[in-house]
Amino acid sequence: MIAKQTALQQLPPDLDRERLPNHVAVIMDGNGRWAKQKGLPRIMGHQRGVDSLKALLRCCKDWGIGALTAYAFSSENWGRPLDEVNFLMSLFERVLRQELKEMMAENVQIRFVGNLEALPKSLQAEIESAMTATRNNKDIKFTVATNYGGRQEIVQACRAIAEKVQRGQLQPDQIDEILFERHLYTADLGDPDLLIRTSGEMRLSNFLLWQAAYSELYVTDTLWPDFDREEFHRAIYSYQQRHRRFGKL
Ligand code: IPE
Ligand code: IPE
Ligand code: MG
Repeated sequence: MIAKQTALQQLPPDLDRERLPNHVAVIMDGNGRWAKQKGLPRIMGHQRGVDSLKALLRCCKDWGIGALTAYAFSSENWGRPLDEVNFLMSLFERVLRQELKEMMAENVQIRFVGNLEALPKSLQAEIESAMTATRNNKDIKFTVATNYGGRQEIVQACRAIAEKVQRGQLQPDQIDEILFERHLYTADLGDPDLLIRTSGEMRLSNFLLWQAAYSELYVTDTLWPDFDREEFHRAIYSYQQRHRRFGKL
């Protein structure tokens, strides 16, 4: 999943290596508008968006960021025209198949989160084999949110906990934030420190609703297919100017 890029190969000198985000999340938005601006069909924007994601993954690895989570398809995106949905599903499948070898070589651990059971069976199989093959890779945790919805994730956690209570495996007073988090898709991943959204939209669109409680938000007008190392550099620079208070003084 890694694209070659020579500019900004090393961590830029104005960034502090000691205060990098551990976990970056990104809402990859604006593919359709990018294509429209160029007079191309929307799917060309999605196709180009893959290159941006590969480049960002490589950049995180180069700069020493240990976790990247990308929003690829929301639980609401099924509402798009069937042609576009079908294109995206086959794009995910094709990219996974093509990039597995390189993810192994680059020591990338890929995981998918979301309601995966509703995805096409052939995509589920590709996801399963990529997750299994890369499970012991250690350089970077790369999580792809596909058919993901933050509310749905919270509801399924509630259901799983309720079932444990019903079976007598858990007492209601044992339910706390730590236990709840263990029932989310992102258990063991930790919350994102920095959440980036491209294309200028200032909303979460149902992404990581629980996990983003104290994430630093960064919105850029740049459309996802144009998001590059320069842009990522700006996002991290902005992040490093912030004072994260977590409600304290
Ligand atoms: C983000 O780009 C990709 C997905 C949601 C799958 P969009 O397809 O939302 O692009 P815009 O927002 O219409 O420009
Ligand atoms: C959010 O983008 C979902 C992904 C990037 C996968 P959308 O384009 O679906 O979000 P809205 O509709 O603008 O809120
Ligand atoms: Mg969009």
